[in-house]
Amino acid sequence: MATLIKNGTVVNPTGATVADVLIDGEQIVALLAPGDNRFGVDLTASVENVIDATGKYVIPGGVDVHTHMELPFGGTNASDTFETGSRAAAWGGTTTIVDFAVQRTGERVQDALAAWHAKAAGECAIDYGFHQIIGGVDDESLKAMDELVAEGITSFKLFMAYPGVFYSDDGQILRAMQTAAGNGSTIMMHAENGIAIDVLVAQAIARGDTDPRYHGLTRPWETEQEATHRAIMLARLTGAPLYIVHMSAKQAVDTLAAARNEGHNVFGETCPQYLYLSLEEHLSAPGFDGAKYVCSTPLRSREEGHQQELWKYLRTNDLSVVSTDHCPFCMKEQKELGLGNFAKIPNGIGTVEHRVDLLYQGVVDGHISLARWVELCSTTPARMFGLYPRKGALFPGADADVVIYDPNKRNRISVETHHMNLDYSAYEGIEIAGGVDTVLSRGSVIISGNQYLGRKGHGQYLRRGLSQYLI
Ligand code: URP
Ligand code: ZN
Ligand code: ZN
Repeated sequence: MATLIKNGTVVNPTGATVADVLIDGEQIVALLAPGDNRFGVDLTASVENVIDATGKYVIPGGVDVHTHMELPFGGTNASDTFETGSRAAAWGGTTTIVDFAVQRTGERVQDALAAWHAKAAGECAIDYGFHQIIGGVDDESLKAMDELVAEGITSFKLFMAYPGVFYSDDGQILRAMQTAAGNGSTIMMHAENGIAIDVLVAQAIARGDTDPRYHGLTRPWETEQEATHRAIMLARLTGAPLYIVHMSAKQAVDTLAAARNEGHNVFGETCPQYLYLSLEEHLSAPGFDGAKYVCSTPLRSREEGHQQELWKYLRTNDLSVVSTDHCPFCMKEQKELGLGNFAKIPNGIGTVEHRVDLLYQGVVDGHISLARWVELCSTTPARMFGLYPRKGALFPGADADVVIYDPNKRNRISVETHHMNLDYSAYEGIEIAGGVDTVLSRGSVIISGNQYLGRKGHGQYLRRGLSQYLI
């Protein structure tokens, strides 16, 4: 079926212009200036479905390259399944997710990946791909990395935190990076010094400092900056492309920016929680409420000015991507596991539905331009993880993953209205200027106003190419 999105302001990474978007089947076939018939042919003659986007932005569907649907963590599982989480993503204007398959020590990487395929297959409302977590770096898993690249899994996450769970030591990291340098894949790093953190955590618990805010206080910025520096040095040694996930400390990003200024192939992402939530106002909330905001890396101090610096680094492109690290756990029976001991609170926040809206507030507040909003939410993540030009921009030949975004809409984020399978919202009460009006995934309208028109199983698995930032 042919669809024409008329009269909207099309925002691409190259800028904004009034244009019509012509879609045939699952793909964009043309961007037309209104009234353009330069070729003497009316390309829109056979259009069955016309959507008027006057006064609205027409943007590429969001690409969230960091989600954890159903992740087993801290004795429980992330509360969104692929079905509920991908549907919530669609409501928020995200049309592609890249989730993390998890391998642990002793497990075959291929088996771990197969288990993730089984969880997601036939469940997703939007297209999806996988990164692979390597929780046990050894000869076999290193060999599997080469095989997975050939199968379209082109990025591998390692952890410098969580000893005994996902942790890799420096030797293991070095070996995995050597493998990545050889096969062209990207190493994604959880950069926190987990050995030092575990000592600080044990000392805090022994002192009786058990409230959620001690989660943040036992993961100080020094542990993030140190690990960031070490990861960069190991990447330089091996030549592997490095992408540091969920960065929250300004000092860690200073270190990343310095390496980028020296010309090294290193990248960083941050997440909405670090731009909007803080140690003082959220993690230190009275009673056990701070548990809602326990995630790693932790929320940082607003007084210390991390948020302003993160926005600055989003402008300078030293932070290249905003993803969500969507890893929701309900308060009831999940976060509650850490009552009386912050170290037992499952780590993670649910944001997949709100990323595009929250980043748009950066446009409204003058932190970033419209084109940068699109670049951070869609284009750069697609390029970084081998999905571009199929995803990430509105050009002929790209998948027709399109969001019509209404700058005049007003919403207030609330657990009462969100679609994530989560019994609270970390963003409760935040007023959003703007909002998603219509979402198309591969040419099908899946959100129209307040209606969900998608279906589970519409989302297809995406085999990814290598990063387009590979040197
Ligand atoms: O707190 C977080 N970030 N939970 C998800 C796991 C991870 O480290 O990304
Ligand atoms: Zn992580
Ligand atoms: Zn994560």
